[in-house]
Amino acid sequence: MEMPRASPFRWLPRGLVLVCALCQILYVGSVTAQTAQLSVDASTQNAQMIPGNMFGIFFEEINHAGAGGLWAELVSNRGFEAGGSNTPSNIDPWLIIGDESSIIVATDRSSCFAGNPVALRMEVLCDATRTNACPSGGVGIYNPGYWGMNIERAKIYKVSMYIRSSDSVELKVSLTSSDGLQQLASHTIMADQDDFAEWTKVEFDLQSSETNTNSRLQLTSSKSSIIWFDQVSLMPSDTYMGHGFRKDLASMLADLKPRFLKFPGGNYVMGNYLSNAFRWSETVGPWEERPGHFNDVWGYWTDDGLGFFEFLQLAEDLGACPVWVVNDGASTYEEIPSATIAAFVKDVVDGIEFARGDNQTAWGSVRAAMGHPEPFPLYYVSIGNQECSKRYYKEKYVKFYSAIKASYPDIKIISSCDRSAISEVNPADLYDVHVYTSSGDMFSKTRMFDSTVRNGPKAIVSEYAVTGNDAGRGTLIAALAEAAFLIGLERNSDVVEMASCAPLFVNDNDRSWNPDAIVFNSWQYYGCPNYWMLHFFKDSSGAMLHPSTVQLSNYDQLVTSAITWKNPQDGNTYLKIKVVNFGNKAVSLNISVTGLETGIQRFGSLKTVLTSGWLRDENSFQQPDKVVPVASPITNAREQMGVVLDSYSLTSFDLLLDSSQMMHSASVSSLHPTA
Ligand code: AHR
Repeated sequence: MEMPRASPFRWLPRGLVLVCALCQILYVGSVTAQTAQLSVDASTQNAQMIPGNMFGIFFEEINHAGAGGLWAELVSNRGFEAGGSNTPSNIDPWLIIGDESSIIVATDRSSCFAGNPVALRMEVLCDATRTNACPSGGVGIYNPGYWGMNIERAKIYKVSMYIRSSDSVELKVSLTSSDGLQQLASHTIMADQDDFAEWTKVEFDLQSSETNTNSRLQLTSSKSSIIWFDQVSLMPSDTYMGHGFRKDLASMLADLKPRFLKFPGGNYVMGNYLSNAFRWSETVGPWEERPGHFNDVWGYWTDDGLGFFEFLQLAEDLGACPVWVVNDGASTYEEIPSATIAAFVKDVVDGIEFARGDNQTAWGSVRAAMGHPEPFPLYYVSIGNQECSKRYYKEKYVKFYSAIKASYPDIKIISSCDRSAISEVNPADLYDVHVYTSSGDMFSKTRMFDSTVRNGPKAIVSEYAVTGNDAGRGTLIAALAEAAFLIGLERNSDVVEMASCAPLFVNDNDRSWNPDAIVFNSWQYYGCPNYWMLHFFKDSSGAMLHPSTVQLSNYDQLVTSAITWKNPQDGNTYLKIKVVNFGNKAVSLNISVTGLETGIQRFGSLKTVLTSGWLRDENSFQQPDKVVPVASPITNAREQMGVVLDSYSLTSFDLLLDSSQMMHSASVSSLHPTA
């Protein structure tokens, strides 16, 4: 775990509880030290393997998570399609430099791309030499990106655009500050009259001389001419694995070692109306040819640069197994009846062929042409999103299930219905569970699967989060409650196969949903306490779970689990004991480990604690490290040891085992669900 610097508020008096009776705000502090016993049976015979794909991530295009977020494209509305296909249309967020006497800008339907017909026509009325002289710097258009572009000194940015003109062209393409006064980089396109008579793709690099986190891309001219533009793109050359993902944000995901990536939503998959649903086939192929679509559920346009292929690529880059949520012919307000669902079923089977088909197949060849001749390991498909109560869901589901299994019997199919609705006539490999609730209720849901029948389909808890007042914009108390919930899932991982929180990302400029695990703007980012909490679980997938019991009367606030896992980096095996203390009392804990085949080494063990001075403490751009895990060496590591748990804390004890400790776990990475 990469440990951020220590919390700046650690000096707050720990022996104190401040209760603000009026506003009911609890401060973290110990009332009375309690003494508890924790017994861990670390024997191999009583251990159980946690599924190899247990902890993953769920990405939804919400809060500008992708467009203006993880997808590094800096131009917003690059194809001028966001205003709709009726022209002239709104070109937001593009803006005009110059007034009506010097420039006329409008959209028309003259694009060379059939799927996205709108282009921008820019008529420069002024000139350098005539009476209507252009203002200094020329006239034109600019794009501020998504709340300002982050342009960094010495970095290279790839410009790509399509141009058409029957005039000779002198066009300056520049990166500037938000007011246009500071120039960071520029390139002038000079062309003779015939050069751009047909639509022509123009590409070049810009290298910035300065850093400016609130920049814009300008296209300006001081020469009387008419120029059409389409598909204007500005991409940083430095992206995660060179695949177009914002490096800082993708690294935050990679650090979680996610074993699966569920995408692309959520309600985003459905759309409020089917006309605005995510249609995978319109998001693949050359980016210039993608129509883009209005994400009507979360209220913004996406150019679909982050399309089906890119999601599969992201999963591969993260070493995660893709889990595709398909549109099954339902939106929030509409539903295709099962009698006419055949085209949707075929579309989904085609999508699987896109991911898995060889290069000779119709859709596999499209993937290969995009630069990925090898199939993607798509083994999980989720039919719809929380739609079980919809009128035709079950009838339609069976059609999707049969068609997919007929061609791809190894694909695990996820139902939106709960376990009780799964039967031989309504079969499923997994059933999807979404849990959004208060912190107290989330804590109690640590037992949610304790009495689940142990055979039959397993659960994928693909969306969970503490919401409401307790959650704020990502509080300590929410993270602790979620940690207790996840420990419950670990302990029930014979009936729960996968888990991911929701939502993952929020662009601070578009908070449609609070809280979220990772917050960012164009240049900053931080993890919320629940993001850091997930680090405590990143070694669990494929590890061995050991029985652990805690004894403490009159204080039902401790939740524990114990695993052994092998670190592939250093080859060491660790016994990791996690404890959530969800109460306001510090606890003296006597840990007793039995059944180990080997000893615990005296040195090399770590204690890691997530806590803070106040239950509702949050991180922020100003204090990104206020609530983060803090690690310290354990000096008395042994089978019997005494430790202290802070009130309102999540603690992990990572005990380094002697090298002869057997590992029976599947810590080896494999994307196949049976591994
Ligand atoms: O995570 C936000 C939303 O919550 C998802 O879009 C939906 O599936 C759930 O209701």
